[in-house]
Amino acid sequence: MTESTLTQQDLRTPVLRRSFRRPYPVAVRGEGVYVWDAEGNRYLDFSGSAAVNFIGHGVREISDAMAEQARQLEFVHTSQFTTPVAEEFAQELLDFAGEHFRGGAVYFTCGGSESVETALKLTRQYQVEIGQPGRHQMLSRNQSYHGATLGALAVSGNKRRREMYLPMVREFEHFGMPYCYRCAFDCTDGCRNCGQQYAAELERAIDAAKGQAAGFIFEPMSGATLGAVTPPPGYLQAIAEICRRRSVLLIADEVMTGMGRTGRNFAVEHWQIRPDILVTAKGLSSGYAPLGAVIASKKVVDAIAVGSEGGQGCPPHTGSGAFLHGFTYNAHPVSVAAGRAVLRRVQSLNLVHAADSNTEGTAGFALKNALETLRDLDCVGDVRGLGLLWAVEFVADKKTKAPFVPEKNIAGLVGQACLRRGLLVYPMQGCVDGVAGDHLLIAPPAVITAEQIGGAVEQLRAAVKEST
Ligand SMILES: Cc1ncc(COP(=O)(O)O)c(C=O)c1O
Repeated sequence: MTESTLTQQDLRTPVLRRSFRRPYPVAVRGEGVYVWDAEGNRYLDFSGSAAVNFIGHGVREISDAMAEQARQLEFVHTSQFTTPVAEEFAQELLDFAGEHFRGGAVYFTCGGSESVETALKLTRQYQVEIGQPGRHQMLSRNQSYHGATLGALAVSGNKRRREMYLPMVREFEHFGMPYCYRCAFDCTDGCRNCGQQYAAELERAIDAAKGQAAGFIFEPMSGATLGAVTPPPGYLQAIAEICRRRSVLLIADEVMTGMGRTGRNFAVEHWQIRPDILVTAKGLSSGYAPLGAVIASKKVVDAIAVGSEGGQGCPPHTGSGAFLHGFTYNAHPVSVAAGRAVLRRVQSLNLVHAADSNTEGTAGFALKNALETLRDLDCVGDVRGLGLLWAVEFVADKKTKAPFVPEKNIAGLVGQACLRRGLLVYPMQGCVDGVAGDHLLIAPPAVITAEQIGGAVEQLRAAVKEST
């Protein structure tokens, strides 16, 4: 059935879908990098759904671990019990997050948005506990995305996703995010030094908050909104230093970049920065179950658990002893079992290494090289990314970098052309100014082979040619 022959009846089903205007194939099975629909069509998952799947589809040991947990104990409420699987996996995650998180603690949720909400509330409670009740503002950047719930949307900068809900969200200071393909500064040195100018925007936002800044949340690499943009040299280090100096908690949102996707356990490791709180989801369970996590450093946990002797302008305090927050399903045993089995798989197959685009012979390296070949297409303005998180940005004019008119929805057209060819990608619009600008996000599972990457990029090239 083609789109044009579909009736309104076909598009209305009991499921409230993302769109009432387009049909969706019915997915029934997954294995490795492939998903099959009910009609037997096969799709190569070149975007890991939405940068979710990292270990491949249909891995039996994950569903076995989930089934075993469900057989033993499907659920208990965190106000009444903890579970072995949560305790063990929390420690494993702290170890995975590295030395800086030693002595910290993990709060498990059902996904990215819940984790961001949790991190924002944890930040606020931290400030109250240490005697800074005036600090309640959460700073963030334009063109960021931190989730769909109202708190997460308040700190997000994705114009299209938040515009309608603006009257319902609390607005705090947003400022510019580095995007060096269209740099906000007149760089003549290949953007080697603009990082400091971008970082100065944070300092100004903290000043504008007049002592009320509690935390700053950021994606180390832009996820979907700008499309895999990496920061200029020195930028994140400067940001981290400003937060430390101004006693503003540094919250790294690694929902998309975490758990190995960029070729490091967490993306912050590329720039050697140490967030106070790290948020992750997506790759944490690789999509096998709804799961997110907030990894809090010892400093943050201690402030609530025991208190501190004071310092840095804060009086000594005794911690209240309780985090005032909770979801019915936080630390759900079956989801946590899935996450634990996924991490074991990531480690046993050495998938973080496989994602490293700077090391020859890896999937990340093959992906980088294959995508770079698309630069010869007239409408491909930029190819950027790191690890197994890449974006291809389309432009109407390569010289001026002028975007296509948004109404053309070039990214969507390319996405649909890819789908018809059995290739899954993640199309987005708005990278230029929140409305104009088209790009595709590419984020395959780390088990993808060089041959599969080569075939996928050929399909992508054909889809781009067909659509532009
Ligand atoms: C960086 C980032 N933070 C938060 C979220 C929200 O996560 P979720 O969709 O699991 O609620 C996303 C989702 O794409 C994301 O990319």
